[in-house]
Amino acid sequence: MQTITCLDMLRNSVASLRENGNSLALVPTMGALHEGHLTLVREARARADHVCVSIFVNPTQFGPNEDLAAYPRQLAADSALLAAEGVELLWAPPVEQMYPTGFATSISVAGVSENYCGGERPGHFDGVATVVCKLFNQVRPDVACFGEKDWQQLAVIRRMARDLDVSFPAADRIDGIATVREADGLAMSSRNRYLSPENRRAAATLPLAMQEAIARIEAGEEVRSTLAALEDELLGAGFSSIDYAELADASSLQRRETLGDSPGRLLVAARIGGTRLIDNMPVGQTAI
Ligand code: PAJ
Repeated sequence: MQTITCLDMLRNSVASLRENGNSLALVPTMGALHEGHLTLVREARARADHVCVSIFVNPTQFGPNEDLAAYPRQLAADSALLAAEGVELLWAPPVEQMYPTGFATSISVAGVSENYCGGERPGHFDGVATVVCKLFNQVRPDVACFGEKDWQQLAVIRRMARDLDVSFPAADRIDGIATVREADGLAMSSRNRYLSPENRRAAATLPLAMQEAIARIEAGEEVRSTLAALEDELLGAGFSSIDYAELADASSLQRRETLGDSPGRLLVAARIGGTRLIDNMPVGQTAI
């Protein structure tokens, strides 16, 4: 595996991987890799001849009171994991390569960015859309893999790519990969490591309570009161607050008060012991 930290070398390296018409898949990450990320890498491998993984803790997607400084950085360990997966190229630029002096552009995706995590974390999705657009332009992959774990992020990236006529990857080659979960159902996340053993046990209530709420909504129970019961269950299990628990249209992310007849998505963000956990699941029909 080649590890590249400067843009000129990235271009050469991508060009040589692309020789003989070989295809290239990109998996953007912020490192601190776990089995969820490695599943994306394996899915990427199945979709292209070569795989490039980026590791960049993107400062522009962190708010002033968020955990940028504390975000886990473990390049040596991550790099060993990626090499073991047979990844050909690791793109790990320093901040100055991504945002050189004078950098002044930001991409803002209206609509899908606005509620849920976008409402809670102003500017967050501008940072994500901007850095992912840059990664697409730098690597120009045929296909890119993102986790459904961050459902709203995936919707924002697809919208950005369509709206800006991104052609590498084509909008229909931005692939969502199903959320990878621990044995008890908790979605894998770099932030799970911050949970105390007690909170870690309680956190497993989140996916279970979501499944229960979905079963009720699909059985015809009223959406609003079912969501309120979901919030109560989480608070009762030890969560300290619920940022949001909403039913949305799976693609436009518009909030829904009824089941609807196109795919829906239950989106939840909740805090436990100072850690913010997010999860989402399909409601109604299999989603996009
Ligand atoms: P990061 O949180 O490192 O996640 C990288 C990718 O891994 C994202 O596409 C995310 O959805 C996916 N992922 C995380 N946990 C997962 C799980 N349990 N199952 C499946 N996929 C999972 O998301 C980001 O980084 C950044 O915002 C980024 C897109 C790299 C832009 O900076």
